[in-house]
Amino acid sequence: MIIAVDGPAASGKGTLAAALGQHFNLPHLDTGLLYRAVGLEVKAHIDAPDVEARATRAAELLDTTGLDPEFLLGAEVGILASKVAVFPGVRKALFAAQRDFATQTSGAVLDGRDIGTVIAPDADAKLFIVAEPEIRADRRARQLEARGQTVDRAKLLADIEARDARDKAAPHGGFHPADDAVLLDTTNLDIEAAITAAIAEVEAAI
Ligand code: C5P
Repeated sequence: MIIAVDGPAASGKGTLAAALGQHFNLPHLDTGLLYRAVGLEVKAHIDAPDVEARATRAAELLDTTGLDPEFLLGAEVGILASKVAVFPGVRKALFAAQRDFATQTSGAVLDGRDIGTVIAPDADAKLFIVAEPEIRADRRARQLEARGQTVDRAKLLADIEARDARDKAAPHGGFHPADDAVLLDTTNLDIEAAITAAIAEVEAAI
């Protein structure tokens, strides 16, 4: 069984995907970590003219096992990730690792932006998670605060909106829900309610 969980930045898709993995006993991959690792790798060159070639090379060489979220989950790395994610060579280089994860015999849950459309169009269940940007900024703020980081909520919201805009305008056509994805709006749901809803949607799909 493959479960695809897509959605914009800080929509709660990572939390939901992890919970689905636990519930259905499937391994879970947060594919944003791959793009974040590439972004961080080329941080010093992010505005250089050769950043595309550097990022593509970094993606080709990336060791996709054992990526440490501790160094990758900050807002700044998210922006670097969304800058390198527009490069077709980067997306191509990261495809195989994601596809391999999705098709392992145990089944899998993957969360990202294009799991249901590109990585696993054959997924058994596809969720597309949405929530208002303000709610997403609040959630991300709480997440970072829980890690002991100081946060500027206004900046977080601006970052999320900038990332939404970049993700929408990406040359590959932007991210959109698969035709057969179920939209789940978590704006007015707490974590428990969102998890219950996500499990119900997957059960209805399989
Ligand atoms: O989901 P997360 O916030 O960790 O993703 C960081 C960035 O990586 C996104 O803004 C997006 O540009 C990119 N990304 C992507 N495709 C994915 C996952 C993330 O392009 N499957």
